[in-house]
Amino acid sequence: MHIYIVYCHPSKKSFTYSVLQSFLAGLGETDHTYELADLYEMNFQTDMDLEQYSRETSFDPALPVPPDVFEEQKKINRADALVFIYPVWWSDCPAKLKGWFDRVWTFGYAYTYDQGSHATSKIKIQKVLVICPAGHPEEYLEEIGIAPSIRRIMLNDRLLGVGIKEARMEILGGMVAQDPGIRQRNLERAFMLGKNF
Ligand SMILES: Cc1cc2nc3c(=O)[nH]c(=O)nc-3n(C[C@H](O)[C@H](O)[C@H](O)COP(=O)(O)O)c2cc1C
Repeated sequence: MHIYIVYCHPSKKSFTYSVLQSFLAGLGETDHTYELADLYEMNFQTDMDLEQYSRETSFDPALPVPPDVFEEQKKINRADALVFIYPVWWSDCPAKLKGWFDRVWTFGYAYTYDQGSHATSKIKIQKVLVICPAGHPEEYLEEIGIAPSIRRIMLNDRLLGVGIKEARMEILGGMVAQDPGIRQRNLERAFMLGKNF
């Protein structure tokens, strides 16, 4: 498979960056190929501006999308699978990645309306894996209902909701404890997620 990896964290000293490196090391033991986007390094424009907002709400799929959005869509079109790696921030993805969805999932690409209700998509991705480091332990995020909420929005709406057949999320939790054992276990999980992709 060819994988487009979308990585979103501002710091290369972060745990999330180590997760990316471990995942790539695991992936290196497979035959998969990949292309990596570091949204902060690319300085990807997060905000939907008035011009694109006007395009998105005119519901005309023939209208051109911004060049940086078109580049992202070409990368997705080249891929069979997507991987997202980002930290849980306030029970969701960082704003930069949210902005990536706002701008890249355009009308006519990620969705169209047929006879008012039916949604169709041009996204031909077979499989998506989402890897999210988190401060709280996963069990706690499950218990308080936040993990199901994160999954519902990211997987059900943003991914399965645009026609992707398979999407799953792995939360690498417990990082607030700053426990070397938890850190090591999470990095080993990231490695295996790459190796077994
Ligand atoms: C702005 C911000 C918001 C955060 N919000 C949450 C949160 O809602 N839930 C959670 O479990 N952890 C939260 N965290 C903790 C991160 O998910 C945690 O630090 C993660 O392991 C990323 O570490 P890193 O920044 O070294 O990559 C937050 C951290 C920051 C900086």
